Amino acid sequence: MTLKRSPTRGTAGDRIEPTTLDALNAIIAASKPLVPGATRAVLGEGPIGASIAFVGEQPGDQEDRQGRPFVGPAGQLLDQAMSEAGIDRHHVYVTNAIKHFKFELRGKRRIHKTPAQQEAAACLHWLESEIALVEPAALVALGATAARQLMGGIVAVTRERGKWLRRADGRRVLITLHPSALLRMEPENKEAAWAAWLADLRKAAALLSGDGGL
Ligand code: URA
Repeated sequence: MTLKRSPTRGTAGDRIEPTTLDALNAIIAASKPLVPGATRAVLGEGPIGASIAFVGEQPGDQEDRQGRPFVGPAGQLLDQAMSEAGIDRHHVYVTNAIKHFKFELRGKRRIHKTPAQQEAAACLHWLESEIALVEPAALVALGATAARQLMGGIVAVTRERGKWLRRADGRRVLITLHPSALLRMEPENKEAAWAAWLADLRKAAALLSGDGGL
């Protein structure tokens, strides 16, 4: 017997080419994670045509519960940094390289697990479709997973952070740290790390204010 799968009930690796962001989001929302466990797919958020898209790794525990990207502790730190750097979150697009939360249970706690490269690769076509449909002029890669997805290969974040790299499609990508990296830092390193992170994000703010030289 041949099993027929509805086109909107695929897994992350299935390729269907949507022509609108709503259609893409419907596909992502109806998909199953490659690794079971997540409550839902967490979709990108922000205006179509936003000048910049911020790309994280994958939703965390709170994002999975609330169904919105960057609303947990890492998201709150990102909000604070955006606000200090002069970026209005409502004017940018915020999304993740991978749309489902991957975790391991420790007691009742759901602890983030880094996605395998093969899981990231399976989600890449969604991210690329999102970029094609939102059409940001530039991208901000928050951390190594996002940088790798956006640049198509490993990026040394500590070396490249604060730099604008260029993708094959011509879009520039600002490499910077993931907010979780700042949350994990030793207290004595946090102040300097925060200042350096803000300096990175101000480069994105400069682009938004038309002063970024793109
Ligand atoms: N970390 C991410 O990479 N994305 C989120 O949405 C939340 C935490």
